[in-house]
Amino acid sequence: MKTAQKPVLDLFPPPRDLRHPFDPPPELMRRQKEEPVSRMRLWNGMEAWLVTRYADGRFVLLDERFSVDPRRPGFPEKNVAYESTIGKDRNIRVIDNPEHDIQKRMMVADFTVKRVNEIKPYVETLVDKLIDNMLNQTKPVDIIPSLAMALPTMVICELLGVPYDQRDFFWIRAKAVLAAKTASDAIAAGDDLNTFIEELIETKTKSPSNDLISRLVHEQVIPGHLEREILVSIGRLLLVAGHDTTAGMIGLSTLLVLVTPGAADELRDNTDPEFLRNAVEEMFRYLGTIHAGRRRVAKEDVIVGGQLIRAGEGVIVLNNVMDRDETVFPNAGKVDFRRPNTRANNAFGFGIHQCLGQLLARMELQTVHSKVWKRIPTLRLAVPLETLHFWEEGSNYEVTSVPVTW
Ligand code: HEM
Repeated sequence: MKTAQKPVLDLFPPPRDLRHPFDPPPELMRRQKEEPVSRMRLWNGMEAWLVTRYADGRFVLLDERFSVDPRRPGFPEKNVAYESTIGKDRNIRVIDNPEHDIQKRMMVADFTVKRVNEIKPYVETLVDKLIDNMLNQTKPVDIIPSLAMALPTMVICELLGVPYDQRDFFWIRAKAVLAAKTASDAIAAGDDLNTFIEELIETKTKSPSNDLISRLVHEQVIPGHLEREILVSIGRLLLVAGHDTTAGMIGLSTLLVLVTPGAADELRDNTDPEFLRNAVEEMFRYLGTIHAGRRRVAKEDVIVGGQLIRAGEGVIVLNNVMDRDETVFPNAGKVDFRRPNTRANNAFGFGIHQCLGQLLARMELQTVHSKVWKRIPTLRLAVPLETLHFWEEGSNYEVTSVPVTW
């Protein structure tokens, strides 16, 4: 067992090599091989442990001796925007058990296989309409607003009962929170989002409809099982997590298919739904878009990968780097839609904080890739890959614009 403090090498996150835009930063891949549990300095000068190997990462994410509560000293907060919400947000993302499971149970019914299958025909119709709209526009068309942002936004609006014509309001605020460089910018955009959700709750209290917020108001808040203030925090989490993550993944996975020789042909020509599911799972594994790491702080001393992590020390589990671990995914740096074990990826996290919306997100991605390549067989990138811009600073790794033609 190693107990000595290792030297702090760099600032987290290290830069990517944008000549290989789909790969995690080379420095993190080096650490996975040579120094799997290592130290890094964060934006605020604090230090934290980085966990990069598959087995070590899953061990941490399953072990409830690690907390997600950012109020605990030593918690490795992502940035100033997240720091500005400490103590205010009390949603499932930032609470430990037993409260976490109680709160999550209030929502699971809206994210089950049954519920997702009920929404699927609606999503299929939406994707067809969005593709029709693209085909009617003057080329080149940018995939990001036309498809990647539009689809998950429409779906989350439907699920939460948010009017779709208010999308610009929350798109702008959600991005402003995620991109904020100062606490006051983050707080201002966050307060606007909170007011937006408070008004939505007010509307659903008076006139409920068939949506998640109405159910939470009438089945949990009014009978006294859930504080109204916590519902505001939950509503904001679902609204942001529900559109931004999926939008990022639709954009990046479409780009991946466009630039990977043979990938579009495979998706177009194969009619086996099992192949499609596996291909989308491989996109999740390979792209690892939620790349800022799963953040935890040790509640007691724990040994991880032979390294002692002391109570009060922060840990960042890099799920995107874990999914490039060669001991689990041989030839991990290659996209292989037929990879047999690709479903063992960690794109949606692992353990009790695993993504609530994962079935929904998977279904949205599968629907997109089941239609786009068949309906627009000659789809191609309208500009060189090297000219595209990637957003590295947020929790979500994204491509900002993907102009296409056909
Ligand atoms: C491509 C799409 C998505 C990806 C890659 C993704 C990824 C993740 C990851 C990695 C976590 C784990 C956080 C942790 O361990 O600390 C998470 C949690 C969560 N996600 Fe997603 N997500 C996606 C879509 C969605 C959607 C569509 C929704 C809701 C409609 C959603 C709601 C949530 C919630 C509520 C949590 C917190 C769960 C908990 O702490 O128990 N996500 N997501």
